[in-house]
Amino acid sequence: MTQFEKSEWAQSKFAQNYRDASDIFLPYRGQFIDTAILFYTQWVSLNTQARVLDLGCGDGLFMQALLKSFTPARIRLVDGSQDMLNAAKERLGEQKSIEFMQASFQTLLANDSLNEQYDFIYSSLAIHHLRFDEKKKLYGYIYDHLDAGGCFVHYDVVTPPSERLDRCYMSMWRQWIKGHPATENRRELVGIPEEYKGNQDNMPDTLDSQLKALQEIGFKDVDCYFKYGIFALFGGRK
Ligand SMILES: C[S@@+](CC[C@H](N)C(=O)[O-])C[C@H]1O[C@@H](n2cnc3c(N)ncnc32)[C@H](O)[C@@H]1O
Repeated sequence: MTQFEKSEWAQSKFAQNYRDASDIFLPYRGQFIDTAILFYTQWVSLNTQARVLDLGCGDGLFMQALLKSFTPARIRLVDGSQDMLNAAKERLGEQKSIEFMQASFQTLLANDSLNEQYDFIYSSLAIHHLRFDEKKKLYGYIYDHLDAGGCFVHYDVVTPPSERLDRCYMSMWRQWIKGHPATENRRELVGIPEEYKGNQDNMPDTLDSQLKALQEIGFKDVDCYFKYGIFALFGGRK
């Protein structure tokens, strides 16, 4: 059994629950996605032959948002879960320019199965499932698969730099969920921050350590572009 198959994401029910409730429990999700798209606008949109990769695409929400304004020449969506890829196919439809690829990050690293270069690589809420040494390897792999001028934009959960901030951010997250109108009928969602903490598939690292790793690999313009509590959008350019 691969590392991905051992994780909860390999279970249909877990993936379905995420798809059903993530719009409720992810704070400012729309703003994170819009900000990621602003980086595409600034750095990639003039390239009419742009190739785009989404690592850990889930049900394709990000690509749907990108396609509302842009038409990249080639798109590849990668996820370890076939259920998620099926949901992405349903959302985006079958199009010649879009390829859906089932692969775990560990397999990509082991087999170099991407075999092409990209201008924009995006990932959201997926890479925190890797250990820090694996994250660094994946960041290096991403760098190697970007063309000069291409960029990597990463929206993910990060470990706060102190216990006090950790308590504060978890409380902010709980308040967000409690305050969402849809939580009225879904009281169980209030427990999501505790479930996140207790789930050993989640291996977030500090933002600082990940920004440093990106810089060490050679990325330029490395920064955190948007942040709310434990949720951060960060990345860099080749
Ligand atoms: C929290 S969901 C995020 C999905 C989507 N990016 C979004 O923002 O809604 C995490 C996604 O990462 C995928 N995933 C988790 N671990 C993975 C791994 N090791 N390799 C590839 N995909 C993985 C899961 O199947 C799932 O689709």
